[in-house]
Amino acid sequence: MTVNDIKRIIQQLPELPAMPNVVAIALDVMKDPKASVKKLCDVISNDQAITTEILKVVNSAYYGLPQQISTINQATALLGFNKVRNLILSCAVKPMLMSHGGKTLWEHSIKTAIGADLIGKSLGRSDADECFVFGLLHDVGKIVFELYNKSAVQEVDRLVTFGADRSAAEKMMFGFDHSEAGDELITKWRLPKMIRSCVKYHHKPHLSDSPVL
Ligand SMILES: [Fe+2]
Ligand SMILES: [Fe+2]
Repeated sequence: MTVNDIKRIIQQLPELPAMPNVVAIALDVMKDPKASVKKLCDVISNDQAITTEILKVVNSAYYGLPQQISTINQATALLGFNKVRNLILSCAVKPMLMSHGGKTLWEHSIKTAIGADLIGKSLGRSDADECFVFGLLHDVGKIVFELYNKSAVQEVDRLVTFGADRSAAEKMMFGFDHSEAGDELITKWRLPKMIRSCVKYHHKPHLSDSPVL
């Protein structure tokens, strides 16, 4: 299977989701040190669904904040820019992962994001802030298989429970694995090169330009 074959399959999928606009904007704001918190808050505030979801999480018992938070600006002042940005990214991507990969993919992605963030920080990496988004999106290619052929995904899962390597099982069933599918999705969505590299090489980091990442 060539890259063009994978591209063709992805192009033909009937309900391939668009990457939420908010994600690209949140990533741009992260890249530009001059970008203000206000700019990000303004963009998010235009998306009522994400705003509601973020405020629900911020006001949950988990954060234990002493007062009710009613705006993204307030949340940022109390929790800090990075926490709120990660929340924005999570809330923006969650519906897509949940509807095409179920709870399992969502939980795996958010756990990886939190783990990657912690590891990035403990290594003192200058790009530690971006590790969260790399973790969040690393397995996004799996949604292609869900849309393409659900029963083949069940067969992959079955093979994995018997000890098969997931990438090998996917290659057998589809001709390509979720890293390659993810690479194509990230390219299609025009997300930054570094995210593409992390998605493409997350099962063989030694081939990447940035193997530690
Ligand atoms: Fe993976
Ligand atoms: Fe994974």
